[in-house]
Amino acid sequence: MRIGLLTSGGDCPGLNAVIRSAVLHGVKSFGDEFVGFKAGWRGIIEADYTELTRHDVRGIAREGGTILGTSRTHPYNHPKGGPENIAKQLKRHDVDAVIAIGGEGTLAGAKRLADDGIPVVGVPKTIDNDLKATDYTFGFDTAISIATDAMDRLRTTGESHHRAMVAEVMGRHVGWIALHSGMAAGAHAILIPEQRVDIDQVCEWVEQVHSRGRSPLVVIAEGFIPEGAEEALAGKGQEADGRPRLGGIGEWITAQIEERTGIETRNTTLGHIQRGGNPTGYDRVLATRFGIKALDLVHEGAWGHMAALRGTEIIKVDLAEALDGLKTVPAERYEEAKILFGR
Ligand code: F6P
Repeated sequence: MRIGLLTSGGDCPGLNAVIRSAVLHGVKSFGDEFVGFKAGWRGIIEADYTELTRHDVRGIAREGGTILGTSRTHPYNHPKGGPENIAKQLKRHDVDAVIAIGGEGTLAGAKRLADDGIPVVGVPKTIDNDLKATDYTFGFDTAISIATDAMDRLRTTGESHHRAMVAEVMGRHVGWIALHSGMAAGAHAILIPEQRVDIDQVCEWVEQVHSRGRSPLVVIAEGFIPEGAEEALAGKGQEADGRPRLGGIGEWITAQIEERTGIETRNTTLGHIQRGGNPTGYDRVLATRFGIKALDLVHEGAWGHMAALRGTEIIKVDLAEALDGLKTVPAERYEEAKILFGR
């Protein structure tokens, strides 16, 4: 078969490991040929692609980012998009099937295309770990490791100055990154989009920790909505796809803490550092297994399905299952973490 690969949406450490394993498995096990579409769906629509040989994927599993580039181009909203045009392009360039590697938006596009007769399978990716139907997505472990390391550093400088430290992490709709990195770093308060918390409560936790001589660490997800507010803080305009550009809640809460408690407080926004650099060993393995499974799904003709992790097994799931809402942090996981807040 001749198979096209694309990476779409925000990038994520591990994308290259998926590309490598799918290509190697296809070449070694089936004698497949591969093309890499550039910058997501745009690459198919505009026939911007490159042949991908074994040689091209050599050694890339350890590299962050994506060798194919990525974009948030929607396969239906592009003026030359839509299933008829995409089918024409695939036929013209002899591509028999597509492996789309991406998050919720990408997989929703893949599902719609599969329903419209395009031979496409998915691979889930997101550092946010918010996709249903898979226990974990690659990129998440790397993000946790980067964020935890940053917080460990914030804690030593915070302790030296007896300041309160705030760390803003990614997490648009869900707080998995904040919860896991915050727990790993021993944060004294963790604020996530799923849980409304009153600013007075945050200040109480901070004061408790400060008054026993420690430097309080507050971890906040970019999508956290304080009690009383309508929506997440997005003072930075909009993304190209119309979504609000988040970020800034860390600065906001830092000012609130300082004003209300009188404790000197500093904010650090980790931003895209969390998504950059080399994937961890865990993410390389997960991504490699996803790539192998996606290739098997192509040979099975399992269009509209994706690879997923369930326990320790890599399984096939219907994209519809993955798109049935976001995987949020359960209330009991938050309550568990909260036992160690403040005091
Ligand atoms: O969806 C993953 C994510 O990392 C979100 O947590 C974050 O809001 C968004 O991507 C940032 O995207 P961009 O790279 O477009 O700034």
